[in-house]
Amino acid sequence: MIYLAGDIHGNHDIQKVIDFFELESLMHVLTKQDYLIILGDVAVCWDDDVHDEWVKKTLQMLPVTVLWLDGNHENFDVLSAYPVRSWNGGKVHQIAPDILHLMRGQCFEIDGRKIWTFGGGYSIDKMYRTEGISWWPQEMPNEEEYERGMEILKQENFQVDYILTHTAPREVVESICNDIVSGEEELQYYLQRISQKADFKKWYFGHWHMDVSVGDKYQGLMEDVICLG
Ligand SMILES: [Fe+2]
Ligand SMILES: [Fe+2]
Repeated sequence: MIYLAGDIHGNHDIQKVIDFFELESLMHVLTKQDYLIILGDVAVCWDDDVHDEWVKKTLQMLPVTVLWLDGNHENFDVLSAYPVRSWNGGKVHQIAPDILHLMRGQCFEIDGRKIWTFGGGYSIDKMYRTEGISWWPQEMPNEEEYERGMEILKQENFQVDYILTHTAPREVVESICNDIVSGEEELQYYLQRISQKADFKKWYFGHWHMDVSVGDKYQGLMEDVICLG
């Protein structure tokens, strides 16, 4: 089984996933062969200290393996120091045996489903943050990541089952947000091109902090924890 959740922001919004598995009485039904995928702003790499240890321990207490995309609120210096390994067809950072970061522009085969991932996003509050302490420029993808994402999708003939991203394609953003702050256009338009080229069943995203459906193909998550598909 694969479950999906939106941003947890470290210890701020993690309770929803704890509650979900407890309230649904899933603690003893699921195993580490089942998955929870968090769609960015996870902050299990944040202070490289007590906070991270607590988040890591809490995620490891869940009955599933935790997979996550990076959002804009991650400590990318800490994240990039973890070893990269191949896992289910794509590249991951292994934070713990049961916590894996799904890297940008990769295609994974998980539980029989083909999933393309692309994290990253723009912090609209970055003027109040300090570089290297609470903000990192790597939050926005670089040219190499954009190219690799497109290339890997091309290798799949642009056919996947699901697309998971932190932010959303431009037209989706325009339909859920009437006052778009600038800074993220490049990524949103890239995802827009992906959405036009790719054949997929459904696209899930976080970042916008709302539980929302756009048409029958796009779904944003925040409070809801759902089953993939
Ligand atoms: Fe967020
Ligand atoms: Fe975000």
